[in-house]
Amino acid sequence: MKIAMIGCGKLGLPCAEVMQEVYDVIGYDIEPNQESKIFFAKTIKEAVDNRDIIFIAVPTPHDSDYDGRFPVSDLPPKNFNYTIVMDVLNEINLYVNKNQLVVLISTVLPGTVRKYLNPCITNARFIYNPYLIAMGSVKWDMVNPECLIIGTEDGSLTNDSCLLIDFYKPLMKNNPTINIGTWDEAEAIKIFYNTFISMKISFVNMIQDVAEKNGNINVDVVTDALKNANIRIISKKYLTAGMGDAGACHPRDNIALRYLAQNLNLGYDLFHSIMSSRDKQAENLAVKLVDLAKEKKLPIVIHGRAYKPGVPYIDGSYSELIGYYIKKNGYEVKYADPLTGDIWKGKAIILMAHNTHVTYEGTGIDIDHNKFYFNFEKGSVIVDPWRTIKNIDDCQVIHYGNTRK
Ligand SMILES: NC(=O)c1ccc[n+]([C@@H]2O[C@H](COP(=O)([O-])OP(=O)(O)OC[C@H]3O[C@@H](n4cnc5c(N)ncnc54)[C@H](O)[C@@H]3O)[C@@H](O)[C@H]2O)c1
Repeated sequence: MKIAMIGCGKLGLPCAEVMQEVYDVIGYDIEPNQESKIFFAKTIKEAVDNRDIIFIAVPTPHDSDYDGRFPVSDLPPKNFNYTIVMDVLNEINLYVNKNQLVVLISTVLPGTVRKYLNPCITNARFIYNPYLIAMGSVKWDMVNPECLIIGTEDGSLTNDSCLLIDFYKPLMKNNPTINIGTWDEAEAIKIFYNTFISMKISFVNMIQDVAEKNGNINVDVVTDALKNANIRIISKKYLTAGMGDAGACHPRDNIALRYLAQNLNLGYDLFHSIMSSRDKQAENLAVKLVDLAKEKKLPIVIHGRAYKPGVPYIDGSYSELIGYYIKKNGYEVKYADPLTGDIWKGKAIILMAHNTHVTYEGTGIDIDHNKFYFNFEKGSVIVDPWRTIKNIDDCQVIHYGNTRK
């Protein structure tokens, strides 16, 4: 295959060099690297001429104040700048045809490709394919990727995504997971992957601060315990979006850590953000239920009142928190839960708060996962924040958190 790499900088150049081990590669950059073995075209027109795949790794720069060398947290939130990538795409579009595949690598926020970038490419085919690559190990990361991310318009495995997978196969030294999603999902995987790392680091460094201020703590003893807790902590657990954290311990532990952070004078309050997002996420779901209730003229029922299925306790119940916000938004709420003595019968907007499968998966607890707390009456609307309920006869099922068309 004949390949072009437009934007041969810290990411594009080493990647082009790896690709050149297998394919015929030509580069283009406004400042071509003279020491590289890559042949550089003089113009974009020359670079893309007759190429099967045209990769783009030009910068999507942030404002210079935002690189993290100086304090950033109080700066106003700002998007990346997409001028360069749009200019490059518009120029490429002048010289390409439908036999050619344009593949954008540059990092962008979710929604950007659909709104601004894909519309630039009208003459060729287009894929969004961000890389999970770190400086210092670009070439190694390129051939040993944690996963591949391929974004298509509707998230389906198109012929172009197959072409790209086949393109990577001879380059890869491992057997990476291949994630195919919509453009927006691919953008989200990339940016949430990076920020997940930031979140982990801030978290363990808070423990380091607590060690420094409290005394008698070696941070490594604490983080090693967490590293080895591979059932709930370092695992796939709690990485399914749905209801918020709940129970007699967790919300109050977060509040207690807010107190500790203040008391030890750490100078920041990580857990305020976590707790305020928990509140707001509950309100967002409550508003969705209230809107549906108004539209369908039905009452709202929460399937599961206890803080989790299989227990009678309502301490820290996220269902109750959603109930609080439903009432705050001017609507009544009912619950159904055999263990809290709440019974419901009738047509309703039903929030499926409890999901025994998600809660108890892998624990060996013997539960009938298909048993609901009441029969769903014809015409009900079932809002499933866990997205596991497929079809219920004569009812509408809404998967909260899945907005794919
Ligand atoms: N560096 C990484 O580890 C990494 C990893 C994953 C994703 N990314 C993303 O890849 C993109 C590129 O990052 P980078 O670190 O390689 O940036 P970079 O600044 O090192 O490289 C970009 C290259 O594009 C060139 N360029 C600028 N304008 C151009 C134009 N109009 N036409 C052609 N070339 C042009 C620059 O001269 C430079 O060589 C960014 O969106 C970044 O977020 C980078």
